[in-house]
Amino acid sequence: APSDPDLVERARAAKAKLGDKVFVLGHHYQRDEVIEFADVTGDSFKLARDAAARPDAEYIVFCGVHFMAESADILTGDDQQVILPDLAAGCSMADMATAEQVAECWDVLTEAGIAEQVVPVSYMNSSADIKAFTGKHGGTICTSSNAKRALDWAFEQGEKVLFLPDQHLGRNTAVRDMGMSLDDCVVYNPHRPNGGLTAEELRAAKMILWRGHCSVHGRFSLDSVNDVRARIPDVNVLVHPECKNEVVAAADYVGSTEYIIKALEAAPRGSKWAIGTELNLVRRLANRFAAEDKEIVFLDKTVCFCSTMNRIDLPHLVWALESLAAGKVVNRIEVDKETESFAKLALERMLALP
Ligand code: 13P
Ligand code: SF4
Repeated sequence: APSDPDLVERARAAKAKLGDKVFVLGHHYQRDEVIEFADVTGDSFKLARDAAARPDAEYIVFCGVHFMAESADILTGDDQQVILPDLAAGCSMADMATAEQVAECWDVLTEAGIAEQVVPVSYMNSSADIKAFTGKHGGTICTSSNAKRALDWAFEQGEKVLFLPDQHLGRNTAVRDMGMSLDDCVVYNPHRPNGGLTAEELRAAKMILWRGHCSVHGRFSLDSVNDVRARIPDVNVLVHPECKNEVVAAADYVGSTEYIIKALEAAPRGSKWAIGTELNLVRRLANRFAAEDKEIVFLDKTVCFCSTMNRIDLPHLVWALESLAAGKVVNRIEVDKETESFAKLALERMLALP
């Protein structure tokens, strides 16, 4: 549905009043009505870099989810304030690894006698606490666009990787990009004693994958791929690496949201694409490329938005911008100094990856 014209006008007016004081970042999974007001859009990696590249902006309004706003706070100056228009915009995957659970896991690895050989690699989609744990133990952060480079780096530092919290991104990168086998990977379940693993299993593994996943990408299955191939001859299947390994293995192309956009920009006229990622992005791409005669469909038959990304809507954005324009800071995301210093170490290792 088209946006309420009154709200559109209010967002415009508040942004104009704030001028260069405000910088609005929008993740690709955001609603169209929000993307319209973003100064930049990007995948998680690009947005982390873009936030850090705006030292003059007093306010960074992050249209995305909580862990992204935390990362922006860590990477920006102390005098800059990061605002998340709805505090309930979390990420169910990030919630699957808590600081207590990860500390317990490290004890298990220590008991098994392998902790010194293990380098933690944490997906951007994790809380600042997990990033701090990662920094403290000599590890790095990665996103879906640099996971291979992060693993290459980690295996230069140690013999094993503890990959947090997305088991699928960890497994897909290990198997697709690093030449490992599924048998090189074990899954650590934080809800079972010792992660549900024996010390022998831990010692034999190269990749210790945390048992986390994305509920949105977890809905795509091998059937989704087979169905779309049967329905649309010559379709190219392009999926995000948060999908299960069987989906990624059956796809033609795999990559981050930014990669997906670039692939479609480069696609020839008349080509057909089934995309396995969040629906706001797929719909926007389908509309944008229809004029170029590129047919773009969603990989699944059911609708699947990321419900927490969708919490940031135009009313919340207007409220945040108008509050700032009136001199009132709302919904500030602020990571405490101790956590920030270690988390920053891990994020900077990522930004320094070749
Ligand atoms: P990217 O934009 O980095 O591909 O990440 C997707 C995602 O799930 C963010 O939550
Ligand atoms: Fe988290 Fe998945 Fe939503 Fe990304 S799409 S924010 S990983 S729940």
